[in-house]
Amino acid sequence: MKTPFISRERLAELTEQFPTPFHLYDEKGIRARVRALHQAFAWNPGFKEYFAVKATPNPAILKILKEEGCGVDCASYVELMMSQKLGFAGDEIMFSSNNTPADEFRLARQLGATINLDAYEDVAFLEEVASIPKVISCRYNPGGVFELGTSIMDHPEEAKFGMTKVQLIQAFKELKALGAEKFGIHAFLASNTVSNAYYPELARQLFELAVEVVEATGVELDFINLSGGVGVNYQPEGEENDIAVIGQGVRQAYEEILTPAGLGQVKIFTELGRFMLAPFGLLVTKVTHKKQTYRTYLGVDASAVNLLRPAMYGAYHHITNMDRPEGPTEIIDVVGSLCENNDKFAIQRELPVSQIGDTLVIHDTGAHGFSMGYQYNAKLRSSEILLEENGQARMIRRAERPEDYFATLYGFDFEK
Ligand SMILES: Cc1ncc(COP(=O)(O)O)c(C=O)c1O
Repeated sequence: MKTPFISRERLAELTEQFPTPFHLYDEKGIRARVRALHQAFAWNPGFKEYFAVKATPNPAILKILKEEGCGVDCASYVELMMSQKLGFAGDEIMFSSNNTPADEFRLARQLGATINLDAYEDVAFLEEVASIPKVISCRYNPGGVFELGTSIMDHPEEAKFGMTKVQLIQAFKELKALGAEKFGIHAFLASNTVSNAYYPELARQLFELAVEVVEATGVELDFINLSGGVGVNYQPEGEENDIAVIGQGVRQAYEEILTPAGLGQVKIFTELGRFMLAPFGLLVTKVTHKKQTYRTYLGVDASAVNLLRPAMYGAYHHITNMDRPEGPTEIIDVVGSLCENNDKFAIQRELPVSQIGDTLVIHDTGAHGFSMGYQYNAKLRSSEILLEENGQARMIRRAERPEDYFATLYGFDFEK
C-alpha cells in the first residue's frame, strides 16, 4: 500500500487554494530522510551528501537540504548559478557534468566547486579553458555489465559516462603533475536500484580501485563519491531500500579494504537525488473527462509535460483517488491531453470507479518529476507547492503563463 503524506481533507483545502495540476512536496519527510542518511553514514566523519540538483531544482527544497547539512551536485551552468545564489560554498558544490561546455568549467572553477571529470580528455580541456584546481575527482566506468548476485543491473560498457581504469590512472598522474593535490573517485553504475546490496557492491569495487590507483600514482585520496542510484520502490508492494543496512554494508567494505590499506581517512560522498526526494512529492491532478471506446479513459488535467517518466521509460507510478478510498473498481487508462498516445500515467490499471472532479495523486514524483517537464503542445509547466512542517502550504514556484511561453520568441508580441 502507498499512503499519501496528506489527508483527503487537507488536500481538498489545497486544491481550493491552488489550481491543479501541481507538484506537492513534504518538508517533514524530506528532513527525516536526510537525518536517516546522516545516521547511516555517521561512522564516516567526512561523510557528505551532495544532493543531485537535477532531481528537484527548486531553491526552497535546496534550502531545506542545506539546513540539514547537504551540499549540491550540479551538472550545468544554471544549476551552478542557483547553488551559488543559495549560498553553497565551493566545497559544498560537486560539479559532476559530462560533455562539459567551457563556460561551465570556468564557472565551476570561479565558484571553487569540486570538479568531477567525466573524461580523460577533459584533463587537457580543463587546463586549457580554466585551470586545474587543488582538489579534483575523476569518474570511473569499469565497462562490462554491473551485476548484483545473479542479476544484471546495468551495462556500464554502453554508458557514455566516465573513463577506463587505465585512463583514470593516467589522468591522476597528469593532474598531479599539473598541481592537483587531493583526489576523488566517482562512479554511478546503476540507476534506481531497489537493493541494499548496490552501494556496498559499488563501494567494494571503488575501494579496490582506490587502493590500486593510490599505489600506482602516489596521490592523496581525499574522497570516494558513490553518486546516486539508490532508488525507491515505485510499486505499492515489495521492499524498500533500508539506508541503515546500506550504510553498514558500505562500512564493512571500507573496513575490509580501505582501512587495512592505510586509507582510513577517506571521506565518503553521495549524490543522491531520487532516494532523497521521490517519495516526498505527489503530482496532484483532477479528473476532467471520462471516455469510453475500446477501453475506458480517464482524462486528467496533468499530462506527460508534468511527469515524463511513464511516457519516457514506461515507468510505474502508483495512483490514489483521494475521493474514492473504497468502492467498486474498473480497468482504465489514465491519460493527459497531449497529442501523443504515450501520454498515459497508467495503462489498463485497476482503479476505483472515478468521476469527473475527483482528485487523484500520482505518487513518488518528488525527484525527476517536475524537473523533466517540457512544453510540447505549448502546454505550460505547473506550480510547485511545499507542505511545510507546520502544516502550512506555500507556493514555491508559480505555474507558467502563456506570456512565459511567448517570452523567448522574436517577432511575435502577443500583447499586440
Ligand atoms: C552525476 C549524477 N549524480 C547523481 C544523480 C542522481 O541520481 P539518483 O536520482 O538516481 O540518485 C544523477 C542522476 O542522473 C547523476 O547523473
